[in-house]
Amino acid sequence: MTAILLLNGPNLGILGRREPEIYGTETLFDIEKAIEKEVAERGWDIVSVQRDSEGELIRSIQEHYYTAGAIVNPGALMINGWGLRDALANYPKPWIEVHLSNVWAREQFRHESVIAPLADGVVVGMGALGYRLAARALLELTPPIG
Ligand code: DQA
Repeated sequence: MTAILLLNGPNLGILGRREPEIYGTETLFDIEKAIEKEVAERGWDIVSVQRDSEGELIRSIQEHYYTAGAIVNPGALMINGWGLRDALANYPKPWIEVHLSNVWAREQFRHESVIAPLADGVVVGMGALGYRLAARALLELTPPIG
């Protein structure tokens, strides 16, 4: 079965309990279920990976080249995740960067993402809905075969 990779970086495993006034009350599990629903129409599944360390995120990108596309929330690695950036440069399918919060409305250090220039698209500030929008974008970017 075709799958998309949902990749979440540091501190995103505790969504729902993490600064809910900024990141919302939905958990990663809720988000996974919502994306599953979104891509089910194409018969796609999801592979969800959340890691707090950059090396493990890099490894999972390398292990999932077979997926049809990826949704990536790098968390704070957006700021200085050069290894993550290089791993994504070699990911062969479309991928969308997602940030729950509007990073440009926040501290200056969140205003630049080292991975964004490589992404097929970026969704920012839409909360958990952003992941679903990214899933829809991947469906559009990957037309059905036949
Ligand atoms: C985040 C924004 C980042 O700046 C922050 O470090 C996160 C979450 C977001 O989803 O809004 O961990 O990626």
